[in-house]
Amino acid sequence: MSVHKSEFKRITTHVLLEMKQQGNKIAMLTAYDYSMAHLLDAGGVEVLLVGDSASNVMAGHETTLPITLDQMIYHAASVVRAAKRSLVVVDMPFGSYQGNSSEALRSAIRIMKESGGHAVKLEGGAEIKESIQRILTAGIPVMGHLGLTPQSIYKFGTYTVRAKEEAEAQKLLEDAQLLQDIGCFALVLEKIPAKLATQVAQQLQIPVIGIGAGNGVDGQVLVSHDMLGITAEFKPRFLRRYAELSQVITDALGNYIADVKSGDFPNAKEQY
Ligand code: KIV
Repeated sequence: MSVHKSEFKRITTHVLLEMKQQGNKIAMLTAYDYSMAHLLDAGGVEVLLVGDSASNVMAGHETTLPITLDQMIYHAASVVRAAKRSLVVVDMPFGSYQGNSSEALRSAIRIMKESGGHAVKLEGGAEIKESIQRILTAGIPVMGHLGLTPQSIYKFGTYTVRAKEEAEAQKLLEDAQLLQDIGCFALVLEKIPAKLATQVAQQLQIPVIGIGAGNGVDGQVLVSHDMLGITAEFKPRFLRRYAELSQVITDALGNYIADVKSGDFPNAKEQY
């Protein structure tokens, strides 16, 4: 059932906090363009993430590293134009915040001013503390992201589950606490053991959103194109498919091509 926007107030960071306090789970999905964002917003998704996964999904790159700040702003502005109710969180791309805190603040301000997004997301913990603090000081809400952080793929070497070892799990727990203490409004945990993610969600007051992090967290995020079955080849264990759109599209294309070639399309009612 679709949700009528007028029945609901706009989702803010405070609404998300209330949802955690009341035990209401948060549904977050990625969006990179106006048409998809319109469907997701009208469908009742609370948070639209303009993920740097646009680098893979939209541009066909192997990693998230190549996408630029200008490109992220273009995607985010398109999503913001469609979002009547959802909170729009925009990923800060690789290279736009790691240099120093002044550069991080400049990049975050560009995102907010030029896209109209409502918050930014950065990957990392203690090592980017100063940048996050500087952004927060300017009044920009920040979502953290720990666990598998795809911008560091060349350091990790693989996209396998993170924080399985005690030392990495301990650092993640400390980073999660630090991100809350300095003022992040929410945290994404990507591809870590469910037990550890549950522990983080119980330890923190802010909402913890998981992807491949089990069911003990305060909400879930997936890449829309994955859960809708558009990226048909991508089948990680954590992904649940809610549609097989690649098959639907392929069938529709076959029918269109056949109708064009046979001369069946357009018919008399489909012309002027
Ligand atoms: O870029 C992205 O899509 C993300 C999600 C996987 C959390 O960061």
